[in-house]
Amino acid sequence: MTPSLSRLREQFPALAQPGLIYLDNAATTQKPVAVLDAMNHFYRRHNANVHRGAHRLSDLATRDFEGARDIVANFLNASAREEVIFTRGTTEAMNLLARSLGSHLLQPGDEILIDTWAHHACIVPWQQMAIQTGAKLVPIPLTPAGDLDLDAYESLLSPRTKVVSLTQISNALGKQAPLHQMLPAAKAMGAITIVDGAQAVAHLPVDVQALGCDFYAFSGHKCYGPTGIGVLWGRQQLLQQMPPYQYGGEMIDTVSFEGSRFNRLPYKFEAGTPAIAEAIGLGAALSFIQSLDTNAVANHEQALMNRAKAGLAGLDGVAAIAADGDNLGALSFRVDGEHHQDIGILLDQAGIAVRCGHHCCQPLMQALGLKGSCRVSFALYNTEAEVDAFVAALQEITEFLND
Ligand SMILES: Cc1ncc(COP(=O)(O)O)c(C=O)c1O
Repeated sequence: MTPSLSRLREQFPALAQPGLIYLDNAATTQKPVAVLDAMNHFYRRHNANVHRGAHRLSDLATRDFEGARDIVANFLNASAREEVIFTRGTTEAMNLLARSLGSHLLQPGDEILIDTWAHHACIVPWQQMAIQTGAKLVPIPLTPAGDLDLDAYESLLSPRTKVVSLTQISNALGKQAPLHQMLPAAKAMGAITIVDGAQAVAHLPVDVQALGCDFYAFSGHKCYGPTGIGVLWGRQQLLQQMPPYQYGGEMIDTVSFEGSRFNRLPYKFEAGTPAIAEAIGLGAALSFIQSLDTNAVANHEQALMNRAKAGLAGLDGVAAIAADGDNLGALSFRVDGEHHQDIGILLDQAGIAVRCGHHCCQPLMQALGLKGSCRVSFALYNTEAEVDAFVAALQEITEFLND
């Protein structure tokens, strides 16, 4: 770890606790002081409801909240701030899309293509919408190496394909989708394209205009921000056409008992009092990421991944899963003859936090012939010493279990 990255680690107070090696960053990341301070400052000094107050504090709260929207728009390279909708997270963004876009778009016989890596948060909203509309959810299969099968994808695309939903980085495997290839193919078929960026934002620069997708979603808490806040970015023209997803409060323009008129974008999709402090915290998290030397962080995270792979390769009875490519952020593994939960408990006893289970990706686990896996996942503050401690602890565990 370079001295500048070591200084960054000091900005995460939770990591100073003794006996903690936190390798569960794909589930949620720790928060830097900049995020904690921004939220604290809001509650201590500017706390008021946004948009509707006729007083100074409300103006300050609105300025902070809308300032966070500008930071998100800039971070994603959105063409307009109106394209940034605050949601509770990726899950709510996907529910919003399936409900609003799906009800407006889908007819019986239409198809929604979704990758086999997809998180339940992407699968289930579209599955429910398919049931309601008579459309069909079609999985994009995997190659034996666990990659998305691009030949199969191209042959599944047809004029019936109305929506293509893709996971930018698999939360279970750390594999990255070739979006530059997959998105144009979907567009050529006239499909609406959705990218789940939940696992990407902490690791990769994101430019939604360069990507060329129609919608992009992510969660604040997976990129050093707070829980309870996320983003749905969408093309303005499509968002304009879509009906609201929830009703009341902020999304209203006028109401009478005869009917209601809805607010303009982005407020049309932000019913009720928003998560104000959380949006401000998210803005601080994205500014924090923007302040980093992205190449240094990427090299560091890749070095951690390579070290973990090499470490696992040296252990008897331990196998990394779908690990022959450039895994990013997350790496799954299994231990022969052992249940993944048991391994997770034993690692926790050694002070090492990993995630074990199906990672909200049961169809992926089925496709891989697994009930679940153990997963380590890295953030910029992890160190090579932590990776070594994890490998050493796993070695001790496997030796103990084989005794
Ligand atoms: C790839 C991916 N998509 C969606 C989600 C859902 O995110 P959230 O629970 O923050 O809504 C997650 C969370 O694990 C994820 O990793």
